[in-house]
Amino acid sequence: MYEKIKNSAEYIAHFLNNEEYTIGIILGTGLGELGKSIEIKHTLPYSTIPDFPVSTVQGHKGNLLIGKFGGKNVIAMQGRFHFYEGYPMTEVTFPVRVLHEIGVKHLFVSNAAGGVNTNYLVGDLMVITDHINLFPEHPLRGHNLDELGPRFPGMTDAYSPRIIKIANECARQLDIKLQHGVYAGLQGPSFETPAEYNWIRVIGGDAVGMSTVPEIIVARHMGMECFGMSVITNSTASPELIKTNHAEVQDIGNTAQPRMTALFREIISKL
Ligand code: HPA
Repeated sequence: MYEKIKNSAEYIAHFLNNEEYTIGIILGTGLGELGKSIEIKHTLPYSTIPDFPVSTVQGHKGNLLIGKFGGKNVIAMQGRFHFYEGYPMTEVTFPVRVLHEIGVKHLFVSNAAGGVNTNYLVGDLMVITDHINLFPEHPLRGHNLDELGPRFPGMTDAYSPRIIKIANECARQLDIKLQHGVYAGLQGPSFETPAEYNWIRVIGGDAVGMSTVPEIIVARHMGMECFGMSVITNSTASPELIKTNHAEVQDIGNTAQPRMTALFREIISKL
């Protein structure tokens, strides 16, 4: 696998002009617009990058955007690979390996999540302070690539307390309300039953979604500094009102874009 990572990274490096790119962003729900705010120097379709997986989900783009955002060089993934699409964990997390190989040290991610914390409102932004891994397969299962990280990596402070502090300051400045909570990641693609939402609340989750956890585990395996934010697209606080659907998740995700983009710009400019 390391050979494939190097192949992809080597190809992408041709477009970096020998400049440093230390910030990577995975543009999940809520950050699609951020792609438009990047002063783009190059757009690389995933299909043109040797050994890179290719997006299959409708409405999900598959491009690597290279450019400037918040005054910094950034590489952004427009389109990510979900486990529920059928990709093995090695492919779900492959782009994070490649970003690291290119020199990315700070990884920013966003996602849509169901709010299970009863204080959360639809449309809230939640800073991910920690996660619970409920995926059926671990992204580090199998042979460990010792060149990249240890066999048994720690997962305390997986979400950088330093960047969370910066995020809090930026949110205050921009007058954006933030929640802080634990993201429970599971495979999907069905949304949860009321009993499952309740179970997630009981085990300590504040929000639940189908991404992010594998990417963060792999990023932390390689020592990258991570920051994640969820848009709370649906409330699951009262079981009788749960009617989660994909259209609602996308609509609410879209309404969060301006706030999320402004916040990420400010955080990245202060990094
Ligand atoms: N569950 C899982 N993933 C989600 C949800 C949810 O309720 N909302 C948005 N993504």
